Amino acid sequence: MSIQQLVPSVFCVGSKDQHRVLFDQLMPLSEGTSYNAYLIKGSEKTALIDTVYPPCHQELIQKLKDLHIDRIDYIIANHGEQDHTGTLPELLKLFPEAKIVTNAKCKEITMGFLPLQEDQYQVVTDGEELSLGDKTIRFMMAPWVHWPDTMFSFLKEDRILFSTDFFGAHATNYDVFWDGKSDIASLAKAYYAEIMMPFAKIWVKYLDKIESLHPQIIAPSHGPAYKDPSFIINLYRQWAEGPKENKTVIVSVSMYGSTDKMVSLLKKELENKGITVKHYDAVHLKTTELAKDLVDCQGIIVASPTVLTGPHPAVIEPVFLLNVLKPTVRYIGLIGSYSWGTLIANQITALLTNHKNTPILDPVLCKGTPTEETVSELKNLASTIAEMHNR
Ligand code: FEO
Repeated sequence: MSIQQLVPSVFCVGSKDQHRVLFDQLMPLSEGTSYNAYLIKGSEKTALIDTVYPPCHQELIQKLKDLHIDRIDYIIANHGEQDHTGTLPELLKLFPEAKIVTNAKCKEITMGFLPLQEDQYQVVTDGEELSLGDKTIRFMMAPWVHWPDTMFSFLKEDRILFSTDFFGAHATNYDVFWDGKSDIASLAKAYYAEIMMPFAKIWVKYLDKIESLHPQIIAPSHGPAYKDPSFIINLYRQWAEGPKENKTVIVSVSMYGSTDKMVSLLKKELENKGITVKHYDAVHLKTTELAKDLVDCQGIIVASPTVLTGPHPAVIEPVFLLNVLKPTVRYIGLIGSYSWGTLIANQITALLTNHKNTPILDPVLCKGTPTEETVSELKNLASTIAEMHNR
C-alpha cells in the first residue's frame, strides 16, 4: 500500500471510517468520518501526531508497518478525546520507547480514560519546541477547541499546522487535501456547529494567531487538509463573527393542527417581510441540518402545543440542542396552542440556561384554534422579528 504524504517525510497514517453513521451518538454522518494521524520522519527522531479511534487501529498499525517504522520517539497528543488517543496503549506496546508529548491537562484527561503511566509522558507548554533533527515542532496551547486540553502543533520548516479538531469535517470522500471543488463547506459547517460553536467566543482570538504563523497547510484531525488555509480560516471567521443571514428557524410539533396553523401564519408573515424561514419538524428532526442553520440564523421560534401543562416532549431535544450549542442569536420565541392551561413558557425558558442574555420574545399562546386575536398577535410577532433582523 502506498502511503500518502502531506509533504515529503510527513505521512498520512490515519484511517477513514466510512461506515460510521453517528458521531457522539448525536450527529448523523453522511459519509462517515476520518481520524487523521501523521508520521513525521526527522533526520534524528520520528514523531507521530495523534492516533486513531480504537476500532480503526489496525489501519494505523499496518501503515506504520508498510513504512517500516521500527521506532517512534514521540507520540504527540494534541487533544485527549479517545477518537485521537484511544490507540495510545496499543501503540506503546509496539513502541515502548515512545513518549507521549502533550500538555498537563491532556495528560490528566488521558490518564483518566486510558491505562497510561506518569513516566510515559513528556509535558510541554505554550511555545515550547521539539526537535526531530532537521524538523522542529512548536506547540501552541489552544484550550477550548473544544476541550480544555486542546493544543496545536506547528511544523516550522514545512509550515504545517496540525490543528486537532479545529477546522475539522466529518468527511471521507477526499484524497489528502480538499480538492477545491467538493462541498466541504457544508460538512465543515455541520462539524463546526456541533463541536466548535459552543466555545466560539473563547477561540475566536486564535484565528489571528494562526494567520500570523502563515501556515502553508492546515491539517485537522478529521477530514481533508487544506493547501489554502485562508479558505477554512475565513469560513470560521464568518461563522463565528457573522454577518448572519436574514433567516429564522422555526421548529415545531402539532397534535391536532392548531399549532401548525399558527406556524403557517407566522411563516407567511415573516416571508412577506423578506425573511427566510427554515422550518423543522421536531418529531422527525434533522439534527445536522438544524445545527447548521443555528450557525447563521438570527433567531429561533419554538412552536409547541401544551401536553399536560408542559411543552410537547418532541421540542425538548431541539431546545436542549439550542442551549448546548450556544449559537449567538438575537431572539428566541415561543408560540403554541393549548386546551385548558399551560406552563410551557416558563418550562422552556428554564431549559435555556446558556441563553440568559438572549432576548426571549413575548410568547404567543392561544387557547384552542387560532382566532382573529391570535392572527393579530402573530403579525405583531413577525413585525418585532423583522425589526430585530434590520438592526
Ligand atoms: Fe475528534 Fe474532540 O475529538
